[in-house]
Amino acid sequence: MIFKSLQANILRDKNMKSFPNTSLRQLAQRITQALGSPEQHAREVADHLVDANLAGHDSHGIVRLPQYARHVADGDIDPIADPLVVRDDGPFVLMEARRSWGQVAARAAVEIAAQRARGDGFACVGLAHAPHIGRVGVYPLRLAEQGLIAQAWCNCSGAARVAPWGGTTGKLATNPIALAFPSRGEPILMDITTSVVAEGKVRIAKNAGKSVPDGWLLDKLGQPTTHPADLYEGGTILPLGGTAFGHKGFALALMADLLAGVLIGSGCGLMPGTRNANGMLLIVIDPDRWGQREEWATRLDEYVNYIRNTPTRPGVDEILLPGEPERRTTQDRIANGIPVDDGTWEQIAELADRLGVDVTDDVTR
Ligand SMILES: NC(=O)c1ccc[n+]([C@@H]2O[C@H](COP(=O)([O-])OP(=O)(O)OC[C@H]3O[C@@H](n4cnc5c(N)ncnc54)[C@H](O)[C@@H]3O)[C@@H](O)[C@H]2O)c1
Repeated sequence: MIFKSLQANILRDKNMKSFPNTSLRQLAQRITQALGSPEQHAREVADHLVDANLAGHDSHGIVRLPQYARHVADGDIDPIADPLVVRDDGPFVLMEARRSWGQVAARAAVEIAAQRARGDGFACVGLAHAPHIGRVGVYPLRLAEQGLIAQAWCNCSGAARVAPWGGTTGKLATNPIALAFPSRGEPILMDITTSVVAEGKVRIAKNAGKSVPDGWLLDKLGQPTTHPADLYEGGTILPLGGTAFGHKGFALALMADLLAGVLIGSGCGLMPGTRNANGMLLIVIDPDRWGQREEWATRLDEYVNYIRNTPTRPGVDEILLPGEPERRTTQDRIANGIPVDDGTWEQIAELADRLGVDVTDDVTR
C-alpha cells in the first residue's frame, strides 16, 4: 500500500531491540563530546539525531555517529567551531559554517532568519559549507513554531548519488526541500528528498542485511536493483518520480543545487574543489504581513477540513497532512522506545569503545 511509509517496513521489525530516547540522547551526547565537542554543541547534535529517530527518520538518527566521527577525523568537522556571518544586508544574510557541526550552524541560521523576518517581514539566509545538517525539516519547523512560513532548499557537495535524468553516473545528491506553514495547532511540514528515498535509508537496509523495494535504485549499468550494496558500487538512487517520472525529481534537485550551491557558493555534487558539505538557503516570510492572523488562520482551518474530508482508498484509514506521520511516530517512540538494528548498534558500540565511552552507562540491551 503506497500510503504506508516504506521506511516503516524496514524499521518496525519486531526482532529489533528498542531503547528509551533519553538513554540514546545521553549516549549520543557522550560520544559527541568524546569527539572533542563542547557540551552545548554535543547536546545540539545528540538531540537532533535522537529527535530524527523519534520522528521515524532513522536514516538521520544515531546511525550517523560513525560517519560524523570519520568527518571529525578527516577535518571535515571542527567540533569546537562556530559559524560566522560573512555578508549582512538587511533580510539577506550569508553565513559560513567554518566546518562547525551542521546542526549548530543551521540553528544559528534559523535564529538570524527569525530575527530578520520579524523585522523586515522577509528573510533570505544562506548557509554555506555546513557539515551534514541532518533532518532538514527541523529548521523550517522551528520557524513555523514561531509563526513564520519557512522554506529550506538544501544541497550537498562531496556526494552525488543521483544521476541527471537519463544518466547512469551520480552527479547530484538527494538534495532535500522542506517547507513549514504555521497554524493554530501544529505547523504543517513537508520535508522531502528530491530522490525516491534518502541515502541513509539504503544504508539502514544494508546494515540490517535487507533488500530495498523495487524502484529505489539503479546499479552502475543503469539497471534496476534491490541490493543496497549496488548503490555503493557505482549505482544511483532514482530521482523523485522514479523510472517513469524522475525528470521532475531531477528538476527539483537541480533547482536546489542552483539555490543552495551555485547562488550562495557552497558547491555542488562532485565538482572540483568540493568537500563534504550541505548548503542551505532559508527563505522566510512573516504571514502576518498578508493581513490579520485570525483571517488567514481561519482560511487555513477551512482548507484543512476540506482536505481531510476526502473519501479514502481501500486500506487507508484517514487523510494525513505532511508532518503528521512524524508527530505520531514520535509519540509512539517516546512511549515504546526507539528500535535500532543490530548492524547500526554494532557500529555505534564499536565507536563508543574506541572513544572510551562505556555504552552500558547509558544503555542496557
Ligand atoms: N541533510 C541532508 O543532506 C539530507 C539529504 C537527504 C534527506 N535528508 C532528510 O531525510 C529525511 C527523509 O526524507 P524522505 O524524502 O526520505 O522522507 P519520506 O519519504 O518519509 O517523506 C517525508 C515527507 O512526507 C510526508 N508524509 C509521509 N507519509 C505521509 C502520508 N501518509 N500522508 C501525508 N504526508 C506524508 C512526511 O510528513 C514528510 O513531510 C528528511 O528529513 C530530509 O530532510 C537530509
